[in-house]
Amino acid sequence: MARDILVFYGSYRRDRQGIKLARWIVEALQARGNNAELIDAKIVDLPILDRRFSDYKPGEAPPAMAELAERIAAADGFVFVTGEYNGGLQPGLKNLTDHFLEQYYWRPAAIASYSAGPFAGIKAATAWRGTLAVLGMIVTSTSLSLARIGGAFDADGKPAGEDGGRLEKAFPRFADDLAWWIDAASGQRERQAPPF
Ligand SMILES: Cc1cc2nc3c(=O)[nH]c(=O)nc-3n(C[C@H](O)[C@H](O)[C@H](O)COP(=O)(O)O)c2cc1C
Repeated sequence: MARDILVFYGSYRRDRQGIKLARWIVEALQARGNNAELIDAKIVDLPILDRRFSDYKPGEAPPAMAELAERIAAADGFVFVTGEYNGGLQPGLKNLTDHFLEQYYWRPAAIASYSAGPFAGIKAATAWRGTLAVLGMIVTSTSLSLARIGGAFDADGKPAGEDGGRLEKAFPRFADDLAWWIDAASGQRERQAPPF
């Protein structure tokens, strides 16, 4: 079954590294037969948002926001690719994510974190776990954690070296966990309408 999975990434830095991980995850999910798409906050280019999508009257939300709301609501599951800034969340990814709500409900999300150093953005991953739960997603227990992202991909964007090797080894379990919850959630939505 082809699952529709959106992969969110939100660094606006000119030399951003996480884009390599986000692109690789999209390709690796596609290689497993999923319809995976990258949602790159820098490309979506929303302003700092001042209201939720649901606060707009129909037809009045910024077009990019309305289009994204539709894509989120149509997806089966999500991956959040996060770096860590000063022990916490990246603002671009937070801005992209925060102003939708019902669109995420009753679907699972998986977290992939990374950093330039050895700790793989684990504090940001932990913070995202709580935020995604508040937004109505079931967060899978299997995360991906990539340390030293600067050397983890070759020039073609393929995993390289020890850290890249660890990423490739960890990925099947990460994707299997997400796929299982996607199937569980979509089956349950068909069996029983969500309570709210
Ligand atoms: C403002 C800023 C704060 C950072 N804070 C952390 C941090 O708290 N922990 C960490 O592991 N790396 C930190 N780093 C290093 C990042 O892991 C590294 O720059 C990474 O490539 C950022 O992701 P991006 O390139 O996709 O923007 C920080 C980098 C920046 C620019």
